[in-house]
Amino acid sequence: MGIVIKSPEEIAIMREAGRIVAKVLQAIAGEVKPGVKTRDLDAICVQELARHGAQSSFKNYHGYPAHICTSVNDEVVHGIPGDRVLREGDIVSIDVGVKFKGYQGDAAVTLGVGRISPEAKKLIEVTEGALHAGIAAARQDARLGEVSAAVQSYVEANGFSVVREYTGHGIGREMHEDPQIPNFGERGDGPILRRGMTLAIEPMVNAGGWRTKVRDDQWTVVTADGSLSAHFEHTIAVTNGSAEILTVL
Ligand code: MF3
Ligand code: CO
Repeated sequence: MGIVIKSPEEIAIMREAGRIVAKVLQAIAGEVKPGVKTRDLDAICVQELARHGAQSSFKNYHGYPAHICTSVNDEVVHGIPGDRVLREGDIVSIDVGVKFKGYQGDAAVTLGVGRISPEAKKLIEVTEGALHAGIAAARQDARLGEVSAAVQSYVEANGFSVVREYTGHGIGREMHEDPQIPNFGERGDGPILRRGMTLAIEPMVNAGGWRTKVRDDQWTVVTADGSLSAHFEHTIAVTNGSAEILTVL
């Protein structure tokens, strides 16, 4: 389809969609504690979306059965909310996608459940830092490869690895638009970023090796070596200055 440039009016709607994503994430984050079931977090999303007149982008996407993704410990992405009970020391990645007035917002955070290990805490901090390194590189006239390289070098300098089989993506009327945004690569790779591009940047970072596999449920992506994994994502707009983060309050 090619990369779609958005008008200021379209970006204004995406700002509203992004704000709803941030509100849903905030509401869910307030309930992440030992003893909570992942399906309870999905229910919070349903409640918040109803309040805002928005839809989940994930529900029924290629048959996906829930409204959010909840990926615990060695689960990388696409964990399906269900009867799993969160325990002290777990980490859980919450991914929320919202459709509002015909436009999409997509963001994710990884949270600790109660007290977590120093290694888990470092993994979360490095993954969030990598997202912000990528966002800082997403400037008009830069190549997309600068974003990918910034994420990769930040993660690897901290001793972790970036997942290679899943990427970020352009976003707009569709949740997944061109271009794909790998979390690894060379600075000179990829298209040149232009004002009005809207992108979902989403590093997935493993404490061990980068390889993943998919569980028998055909959705849940887990680390091949069983190591912990974290995921942070924002939807951003490329501007003539620093990129604007759309998935914020
Ligand atoms: N944030 C994820 C993505 O960008 C969400 C997809 S989950 C799915 O691909 F359920 F919708 F597939
Ligand atoms: Co995404």
